[in-house]
Amino acid sequence: MPAVDLEAPEQRTSDAVLEIIDVSVRFGGINAVSDVNLTVMPGEITGLIGPNGAGKTTTFNVITGLQEPTNGRVFIGGREVSHLPPYRRARLGIARTFQRLEVFGSLTVFENILAAAEFHKSWSEDQTPPRRVAAEIIDRVGLQRVGNARVDALPTGIARLVELGRALATRPRLLLLDEVGSGLNQDETDALGDLMLDLVRDGTAILLVEHDVELVMRVCTRIYVLDFGRIIAQGTPAEIQKDPAVQAAYLGSDEV
Ligand SMILES: Nc1ncnc2c1ncn2[C@@H]1O[C@H](COP(=O)(O)OP(=O)(O)O)[C@@H](O)[C@H]1O
Ligand SMILES: [Mg+2]
Repeated sequence: MPAVDLEAPEQRTSDAVLEIIDVSVRFGGINAVSDVNLTVMPGEITGLIGPNGAGKTTTFNVITGLQEPTNGRVFIGGREVSHLPPYRRARLGIARTFQRLEVFGSLTVFENILAAAEFHKSWSEDQTPPRRVAAEIIDRVGLQRVGNARVDALPTGIARLVELGRALATRPRLLLLDEVGSGLNQDETDALGDLMLDLVRDGTAILLVEHDVELVMRVCTRIYVLDFGRIIAQGTPAEIQKDPAVQAAYLGSDEV
C-alpha cells in the first residue's frame, strides 16, 4: 500500500464499507495498535483475531470514535470520519457490541431492543414503528423465549445476543462484533454463525472479533491476525490456517 498523503482529499473511491489506514494507538509506553491497515467489503464477514491484548478492542474503539488514534485515518463508505465524534459515525451506519456488556440490566430483552429502535427512529429517515422493529429483531436473533425476561437475569451469552439485537435495531451497514459468541453453547454458536451469514446476505458488512476459531473460519471471507498490535497475517481462512506465523502466535496457543 502506498504511503498516505496527509493532504489527500477526504473521499476515497473504493467499494469498501470500512477502511482504516496506518492506524496506531499508544498508551504511555505501550504500542497497543501499530500501523494497522484493514478493509471491510460489503457482503462479507471480515475476521479480526489475535491473542488477548493484541489490540482488537482498541481497533474497534478507533473505528467507532471512542479512542482517538495516535496516528492514522478511518473511512466509512469512502468518507473520512477520523474527526467525527462517535454519534456522527453511528449515523453513517456503524453499530457495535461491546466485549464488556453494555445493556440495561433492569429492562427486559424487548425493552432493550425497543429503546435502541426508538433512538434510531428519532434521527433516521427510517420511520418503521420501533415496536415492529424490536419484534422482528427478537425473532431474527432467536430471543423469543426470553423477550419478557430482565436482561440481568439472563446468562451472559444470551445477554450478548441482546446487545447484538440492540445493534441491529439501528439498521447498520457495518456491524462490529466484539466477542459476541463468548458464553454460547455449540448450538447457539452455530445459530449465531447462520445469523451473521444471513445479515451479510442482506447487505450488512461485519467485522468480527471472536476467539472461537472454528466459527471464524466458517463464516469469514477474509481474516486479519493481530499480534502485539501489528497485523502479522491476512488472507482467506485456508491461508490463515496454514500460516506459520499465525500458528506460532495464536492458533497454537492455549486460548484456542
Ligand atoms: N485505556 C487503556 N489504557 C492503557 N492501556 C490500554 C487501554 N486499553 C487497552 N490497553 C492496552 O492495550 C493493549 C491492547 O488491548 P485491547 O485492545 O483490549 O486488546 P484485545 O481486545 O485484543 O484483547 C493491551 O496491552 C491493553 O492492556
Ligand atoms: Mg478485546
